[in-house]
Amino acid sequence: MEQNGVLQDIPVAEMIHSAMEARKKAYTPYSGYKVGAAVLTNELRIYTGCNIENASYTPTICAERTAISKAVSEGWRKLKAIAIVGSPEGDEISQFAFPCGVCRQVMREFANPEEFIVITAKSVQDYKAYRLCDLLPEGFGPENLKTQEITR
Ligand code: THU
Repeated sequence: MEQNGVLQDIPVAEMIHSAMEARKKAYTPYSGYKVGAAVLTNELRIYTGCNIENASYTPTICAERTAISKAVSEGWRKLKAIAIVGSPEGDEISQFAFPCGVCRQVMREFANPEEFIVITAKSVQDYKAYRLCDLLPEGFGPENLKTQEITR
């Protein structure tokens, strides 16, 4: 994507650095795949998260949803961007990690998909950025449930 312009108001380096720090806290005794995420609210606050696995497997939560849950539970429901750093165990980030489908849907709940930016990074300098609408085309969101008044 065209990175100049859309990333203008986004503190990309700070978000990637925050995601890298959060990744160090990942609890991954089963997969060994460690992910860190940093979400930016519309008010420019950053909340971080890591993946947290579970012996029963299905309760595992991804880093992105940990970060979003932290922001929303603190009262910030409008999100602007997220940075993701994910790679198998070890300090070197060998791949660009993309959010799973469930996490894309959770982003959709609290973001404008045309504007929300997903950043996936190997380092502070080496990253890619996408609009959520390109990663989750024709998504289903709160606006579809017109019969219910949604307080956002
Ligand atoms: N994981 C994330 O944290 N984010 C994603 O978007 C994809 C997967 C985690 C879940 C699990 O702990 C590990 O990566 C392997 O699936």
